[in-house]
Amino acid sequence: MNVAVVGATGAVGETILRVLEERNVPIASLRAFASRARAAGARFRGDAVDVEPASEEALRGFDVVFFAGGEDASDRYAPELVAGGSVVIDNSATFRMRSDVPLVVPEVNAGAIRAEHRLFSVANCSAIILCSALRPIRDAAGLRRVHVATYQAASGAGRQGLQELMAGERAAASGDPEPDPVAFPSRLARNVVPQVGGFDASGWSSEERKIGDETRKMLELPDLLVSATAVRVPVRTAHSEAIFVETQRPTSVAELAAAFEAAPGVVFHREGIVTPRDVEGTDGVHVARLRAPLDSARGDKGRDFALWCVGDQLRKGAATNAVEILELLLQRGYVAR
Ligand SMILES: NC(=O)c1ccc[n+]([C@@H]2O[C@H](COP(=O)([O-])OP(=O)(O)OC[C@H]3O[C@@H](n4cnc5c(N)ncnc54)[C@H](OP(=O)(O)O)[C@@H]3O)[C@@H](O)[C@H]2O)c1
Repeated sequence: MNVAVVGATGAVGETILRVLEERNVPIASLRAFASRARAAGARFRGDAVDVEPASEEALRGFDVVFFAGGEDASDRYAPELVAGGSVVIDNSATFRMRSDVPLVVPEVNAGAIRAEHRLFSVANCSAIILCSALRPIRDAAGLRRVHVATYQAASGAGRQGLQELMAGERAAASGDPEPDPVAFPSRLARNVVPQVGGFDASGWSSEERKIGDETRKMLELPDLLVSATAVRVPVRTAHSEAIFVETQRPTSVAELAAAFEAAPGVVFHREGIVTPRDVEGTDGVHVARLRAPLDSARGDKGRDFALWCVGDQLRKGAATNAVEILELLLQRGYVAR
């Protein structure tokens, strides 16, 4: 299998290379692309890999092309590559809401993939983490309403976001003037910024819209009420989410705890807490602090629950999920080894 990674010098692309290597995906040849060339600009299986400038011609003929190069690159190259017979697995938002494009988290909706699909979108990182936590609840008791507040890491805004946070931290520690914000709407070091993406006329941010729309699509619940508040926090990697759900049927903390313990991809913490630093570099979606409102905590069944959820957004929220989609295609024989 011949594989290309577009955006190989970025936060997600670099992680895709690492995950492909870790999981020993059967790759005969791998080439790395970005907006410009860099000699030995990437690493794969212990070797330096030259990074080539992406172009229509250079990307033609691969069995599988991963895109982690932003909307522009996906929009410009992916449709033609798919028409030419390549499988494309795209981390950008470009095609996610198209009805003919499966938006798959393997533990949540692997059934959405069919043999004729060639273009696959990887969902928004916060939506992947949210859906991984919501699927066991949906299956146990149905879902009527979801409120979520996200606490999103700086590397969610790519390499530039991470560098901006670190530069701000250094300046704050040394007493130097902090650089002006570029990747974020406000300085992020020693701060919390309640804006991820641009606002629309009704006041919702693009990130909040994506979380709602993509969650409804992946959970196959088109009428689910989802309201999100997306917040950037001065954490390097791993997104956290405070989730409040209303279920369709009455259930209990004990029943939901059992559902989380049985859920593939979910690491359930019956006690204690879990933080972004605990999960950085791992693939599980961690759920903790599952609880019912105090007035229903006597053991009666109820419909309202709260939980805390954390996942590495560069891995399960992007790269690992992309590689898992390829593994599913290989298992089913939809892509030849
Ligand atoms: N960061 C996350 O947590 C996360 C999570 C889920 C999804 N995503 C999505 O994944 C994609 C990549 O995000 P990122 O955070 O990894 O960004 P990033 O760190 O800024 O990296 C972007 C990469 O794309 C390359 N690139 C940019 N424009 C290109 C073009 N026209 N043609 C070819 N390559 C191009 C860049 O190459 P140069 O360095 O040469 O410019 C770089 O390698 C985005 O669509 C993002 O929305 C990100």
